[in-house]
Amino acid sequence: MNSDEIKHLEDIDRETIWHPFTQMNDYEKEIPLIIERGEGNWLFDIHGKKYLDGVSSLWVTVHGHRKKEIDEAVKAQIDKVAHSTLLGLSNVPATLLAEKLIGIAPPNLKKVFYSDSGSTSVEIALKMAFQYWQQNNSRFKVQGSKFKKTKFLTFQNAYHGDTIGSVSVGGIDLFHSVYKPLLFDSIKATFDNAEELIRQHRHDLAAVIIEPMIQGAAGLLLQPKGFLKKLRKACDENNLLLIFDEVATGFGRTGKMFACEHEGVRPDLMCIAKGITGGYLPLAATLATQEVYDGFKAPYRDLKTFFHGHTYTGNPLACSAALANLEIFEKEKTIENLQPKIGYLAKGLRKFHDLPHVGEIRRLGFMVGIELMKDRDGKISYPWEDKMGIRVILEARKRGVILRPLGNVIVLLPPLSLSLEEIDFLLGVTYESIRIVT
Ligand SMILES: Cc1ncc(COP(=O)(O)O)c(C=O)c1O
Repeated sequence: MNSDEIKHLEDIDRETIWHPFTQMNDYEKEIPLIIERGEGNWLFDIHGKKYLDGVSSLWVTVHGHRKKEIDEAVKAQIDKVAHSTLLGLSNVPATLLAEKLIGIAPPNLKKVFYSDSGSTSVEIALKMAFQYWQQNNSRFKVQGSKFKKTKFLTFQNAYHGDTIGSVSVGGIDLFHSVYKPLLFDSIKATFDNAEELIRQHRHDLAAVIIEPMIQGAAGLLLQPKGFLKKLRKACDENNLLLIFDEVATGFGRTGKMFACEHEGVRPDLMCIAKGITGGYLPLAATLATQEVYDGFKAPYRDLKTFFHGHTYTGNPLACSAALANLEIFEKEKTIENLQPKIGYLAKGLRKFHDLPHVGEIRRLGFMVGIELMKDRDGKISYPWEDKMGIRVILEARKRGVILRPLGNVIVLLPPLSLSLEEIDFLLGVTYESIRIVT
């Protein structure tokens, strides 16, 4: 690319794109980083500079960029058909993928409802749970047409996406407080009072929704051991559905295919997205039990159909990428081979405690959050206006690593294909960047 072409791209990017989760006032003042291509665990910008992809291009890349098998699967599918709707008909990759997903999911999940993003997979789970109770249990009907079991229990610091329904069950006020007038009410629990709240509100609640084991966008917050088991028991005893949002944790990120496997707990509905296509194309799914599915089957005139479906639902190109992604998991024994790398990463993180402004380091599998503290002993955080996280990741960028912080938490969420040498590079650059900035 010559210098005129580069300048043109940099100018029109700032002039025309409104970037997500980005203060454009700041962005417009900087020269944008524009990626041109990827190879393995590396990204290359339009100047040819290379960067390690330390956050898997926002938690999606699994086996690296330009993975031969996935490239070929998508190219082969292009030669057949790029898109055909799933509304009332089907396509080959969507069908084969559904079989594969049911094969790897918790064994009680039997049905796959496709969509295109993590947020939509959550919207679908919420609507399914809501409608399931509306049309399946007349004893929850009170006062004429009013139904009970219309609410959701969710958790403080939860993040389930940016659409209005998923924000309504979210618990990160910094992102979402401005939308409060638009949202529906949900019951916000902590890990300490959830079981009590479930008992108290059992007649009002349709379902509980949780990111199993670790809350991602909250800054990689780990849950108490055994909590999912307790939650499952409380849901069963009080007749509620349990929704696991595995959008971030699914597809090996925590060291198991799905995070709920750490505790052997099965949800009634499970949301998956991000890593499903290995980071290639937008695709998501909401998996449901036979019981939930059967709650929608009825004569047509009863209007129990699940009236929901996005235009690109079950897109054949995305499904063919996902199929190839899952075949690589099997062929390369990705989860098995990840275990020593997780140990190596955990060991390498220990030295970060030497840095005086590093507080907690939280990790599950290949999901890491390093908390920056103004005063570690006094437990004083940096004011968010100081943008410490942003400053650290900009320093890392200069040194050839792409990261994205969550406030004062430096997130490391590399592709599962990261090598031991690349782990060393990622940790070395992160360490140095934190040291310099703090
Ligand atoms: C747990 C969880 N749920 C849902 C979402 C939303 O996914 P998407 O951005 O694909 O809509 C995210 C995104 O980070 C997530 O971490």
